[in-house]
This record gives sequence, structure tokens and C-alpha cells, in this order.
Amino acid sequence: MIPVNEPLLARATLRYVADCVRTGWISSAGSYIGKFEAAFADYLGVGHAVTTTSGTTALHLALAAMGLGPGDEVVIPSQTMIAVPYAVLYTGAKPVILDVDRETYNLDPGRVEHFLKKGCRYDRRAKALRNKATGRRVKVLLPVHLFGHPCAMGEIMGLAGEYGLDVVEDAAEAHGAVYRFGGRKGPRFCGAMGRAGCFSFYANKILTTGEGGMVVTDDEALAEKARRLKDLAHAPGRRFLHTELAFNYRMTNVQAAIGLAQLEAIDRFITLKRRMAEAYGRRLAKVPGLTLPPEKPWARSVYWMYAVVVEDDFGMPRDALMAKLKERGIDTRTFFIPVHRQPLFAKDPDYTGADCPVADDLGVRGFYLPSGLALKPAQIKTVCDAVREIQSGR
Ligand SMILES: Cc1ncc(COP(=O)(O)O)c(C=O)c1O
Repeated sequence: MIPVNEPLLARATLRYVADCVRTGWISSAGSYIGKFEAAFADYLGVGHAVTTTSGTTALHLALAAMGLGPGDEVVIPSQTMIAVPYAVLYTGAKPVILDVDRETYNLDPGRVEHFLKKGCRYDRRAKALRNKATGRRVKVLLPVHLFGHPCAMGEIMGLAGEYGLDVVEDAAEAHGAVYRFGGRKGPRFCGAMGRAGCFSFYANKILTTGEGGMVVTDDEALAEKARRLKDLAHAPGRRFLHTELAFNYRMTNVQAAIGLAQLEAIDRFITLKRRMAEAYGRRLAKVPGLTLPPEKPWARSVYWMYAVVVEDDFGMPRDALMAKLKERGIDTRTFFIPVHRQPLFAKDPDYTGADCPVADDLGVRGFYLPSGLALKPAQIKTVCDAVREIQSGR
């Protein structure tokens, strides 16, 4: 079986983990936490990085630290992982689900602009932007850099500035991806552009700690609050005294040791991902009816997953192609089921009305090919040959 993903662990991993075990620093108080956070902040060029237990908790922590709560709304894309709406709902706020761009699969800035212009009004008394349909305050835009390709951040940051909104980036799948702003602003890493950026370090991610996550920000007060909330919010100067509701989202020293080792190898990992994409692109470019993942001129994608879309002229539906690949020992995954189609939201009128034809279309046509860091060039050839043979009925 060619797995859809397999982690590749940097050589230093065993040494750093052995150090934790030998010294007994296995929970969240050891020195690797600080080292990993400092190195990650340094890599991204941001002021602060705060470790958490997962990408899901990183998103929740960032939103909670920003004070999101009941009566607030967060704009999210429909083609994304369920952790995104979950994190919003944990705070008591509600997601506004908007459609994505057909080319990048990411939040469509045109849709965001339309919603802010036509679907919202400014409430002068409350000094808040209100969703006309629900009356709630729209506070945050939450773009997700899906499959390692950056969102159109120039437009999204511009809209956030114009309407006084915060931006929280979900860079769970985009470690090392870059958005290039025009002019003096220049290139910026995904996760380092919004008020906060959130990462996942699950085992299939470009940088892994097994399970884990990170919130990054330039906002010192926000970082401070995130640190307090992730560690049960002991009162300053008085341990075991608590004045606010908080969480235990502490990463362990062992996980941070793994993370530090992977971070030291991140440039090599990104090179491997980009080489994989180049090899797939070369072999699949002439396959009719297969839309390959883009790389916009303003983007450096890290191709977390090699995500393709099966168009009508491929000759068979996506699910049939995936089943035939499986018969040949090739494991693949579909794109996400769009958020507004999740049964969880089926009875909620806020979501059943969501109009996301592009996310719907991608949800039935999109899938990704084996894309792990351990994938060999010969395996890429096997996958591409199989796709071509299946299409031609061989
Ligand atoms: C876009 C996106 N956001 C958030 C998450 C949640 O991360 P985790 O699985 O570490 O909780 C994932 C996980 O795969 C993801 O792909």
C-alpha cells in the first residue's frame, strides 16, 4: 500500500527525546518548550509563539484570548476541516460560512467583501459591525491556508482593515508557506500576517510533534493572555487562585523536543514537498480532466497535500477513481465535506442557508494523492501511471 501520508522524523528527534527521558522532564515544564517556541517565532519572524495540545486547541485558544463570545461571529470558509467551526463554537461565538475560490480552494475574498458590504451594517452605538441577518457582531476573518497554498491575504487583510476586523489565520496545513505582498511589505509566512496564526503539529503535518499546536502573534498582551488561559489561569502571584475560566492546553516537553528537531529540518521538508509537487505536476499535466493544484504568482505553496480535482472530462467520477486506486494499493483522501453540509448544522437555519456552490462542487470532485514526506519518486511514478491507466481503461 502507498499510504496517503507517512511522517519523516529528523535525525535529532531521538537525541532530544532521549534527553527529556534521561533528565525526567517529560511534562510541560521542561526547557524544550521555551526553545521550540522561541525557534518557531524566530522562523516565522513573529514576536511570540505559544505551544498548545493541537491545532484545534490553538484555534480555540487564539479566539478565546481575543475575547470572542456569545453574540460574536467569525467568518470561515466552507471547504475546511471541522476543527475550524468547532473552535468558534467553543467560545460561544458562531461561524459565518462563506464560499471558496475555485482555483485556490481558499476563502474567496470577493465573497467576503460581498458579505461585509451587503450582509452587514455598522452599528454606531455599539461601535460594531453587525450581520444584518442575525444581528450578531462580526469580529474576525478566519482564512484557512488549505493544503499548503496561501489565501489571498492582501485582499483579506485589506478588508479586515477597512471594516475594523481581526484576522486569525489557520496555518495548520501551511508551515513555511509564503504570501508575497506587493511593495515594501514583501513576503510573509502564513500564520504571521493576522493578529494571530494557528498551527497543527499532528503526525501528518509538515512539522509534527505527534499531536500539538501553536498560536503565534506579534501582540504581546494577546500572547500573555493565551499563555495564562492555556495553563488554567492561575492568578498572578497566587497559584491555585482563579478568577476566569481557562483550559489545560499545555504541550509536553517531549512533544516540544520532537518539534524542535523537526523545525531544524523544515527547509529540507519543504524542498521535499515542492519536489513531490513538481514530479506529480510533470507526470499528470497532460491527463485530461484533472485539475492540478495551483501556485499563484504571489504564493509559495508547501503542497501539504497534492490536491487534485476530477472534472467531467476525466471520464469517471472522483469516487470511482479513488476506488480503483485503492484496488491497486494506493491510498487517497477526499477533500473535506463542506462545513455547511455537516449533519451537525443540519437543523440550524444559520447554516442551512449558506450558499457555497464552489465548496459543494469541490467536496464531490476533490481528492488528494499520497503526499507524505517519506514518499519516494518511484511511488509517485506508480501513482501517476495508475491514474493514466485507470483513465484509459487498462
Ligand atoms: C485546516 C485545519 N485546521 C485545524 C486542524 C486541527 O488540527 P489538529 O488535528 O491538530 O487539532 C487541522 C487538522 O488537520 C486542519 O487541517
